[in-house]
Amino acid sequence: AFKPLVFSGVQPTGNLHLGNYLGAIRKFVALQEDNDCIYCVVDLHALTAQLVHEDMRSQIRSIAAAFIASGIDPKKHIVFNQSAVPQHSELAWIFNCVARIGWMERMTQFKDKTGGKNAEQVSLGLLAYPSLMAADILVYRATHVPVGDDQKQHLELTRDIAQKFNIDFGNHIRKAGTGVDVVVGEEPVHAYFPMVEPLIGGPAPRVMSLRDGTKKMSKSDASDLSRINLLDDADTISKKIRKAKTDPDALPSEAEGLKGRPEAENLVGIYAALSDRSKADVLSEFGGQQFSAFKPALVDLAVNVLSPITDEMRRLMDDTSHIDAILRDGGERARARAEKTMKEVRDIIGF
Ligand code: ADP
Ligand code: NA
Repeated sequence: AFKPLVFSGVQPTGNLHLGNYLGAIRKFVALQEDNDCIYCVVDLHALTAQLVHEDMRSQIRSIAAAFIASGIDPKKHIVFNQSAVPQHSELAWIFNCVARIGWMERMTQFKDKTGGKNAEQVSLGLLAYPSLMAADILVYRATHVPVGDDQKQHLELTRDIAQKFNIDFGNHIRKAGTGVDVVVGEEPVHAYFPMVEPLIGGPAPRVMSLRDGTKKMSKSDASDLSRINLLDDADTISKKIRKAKTDPDALPSEAEGLKGRPEAENLVGIYAALSDRSKADVLSEFGGQQFSAFKPALVDLAVNVLSPITDEMRRLMDDTSHIDAILRDGGERARARAEKTMKEVRDIIGF
């Protein structure tokens, strides 16, 4: 069997927000207790949407600072940036040759980001993004990936790539004397890459925009009022929650009553996630109350949970040599592991 290993990544593009925290970073922290974890600042991915970044270095540092401020231990686990480990790119090239163009074109995130554009305006990297993501995970032969619900489809593609590699190179894997016997469905398979398990869930697997309950909260939303940033101060958090779009009705007393009310569902989901409760439990307290009463409670909770992280992030970001040393050390340890996989992969292919 494959040894359990957790991998995940966050792009160094723009402000980290509450969606990144609840959908990803908070889970990274929880998983440290029982697992070997590798957490990556995926700087190569940041080129897919926008090629030239004026402040790439400081963006990379700010993600690393957010990881550590949230409680990730870079000594027990690994925190590094993707470009420090060229093996990610090497495996991504091989996966570009394993995967099919149609698999990439079908990704809803690709379609959302390219809708209305012609192929002359879309980078090849944006199309191939899920292939690099598969390489990020599989270059460590990671088995578990904590991410938000928005990444579910990309993780299915990672499984498809792993499976096709295992099948296409089946005989080579045996001949190279590597791989492990696993059972896929009912079938015994001699596999080199594991089938990754997504770790998605909780009361707010996808945090939605505060301005439009049908769109996910995102770094790339033009309106800063649409998201709570991890670096926002208490007054800003308060303003954004007070201005959050809602409907005129009182909160329902059961979770069923949130159906068809995306803004209400989102705010209740955020409250639930921040307080480690279920939506039903939150509604048993606030059901029947107006948003004018619920929103101040949500502000207090959000400020209580986020302000210690914000303060620590700022402190860490002021000490760039400390963050850089953590990334350098993490990069060395990640490189050693990734190179072990790539030696075997080159051997399997016959290079
Ligand atoms: P963004 O989509 O804001 O650019 P990334 O693509 O870097 O953020 O995603 C980093 C992590 O945060 C991923 O695990 C992703 O699934 C998660 N994530 C991003 N947006 C949200 C959201 N609105 N709700 C929940 N999780 C999210
Ligand atoms: Na994303």
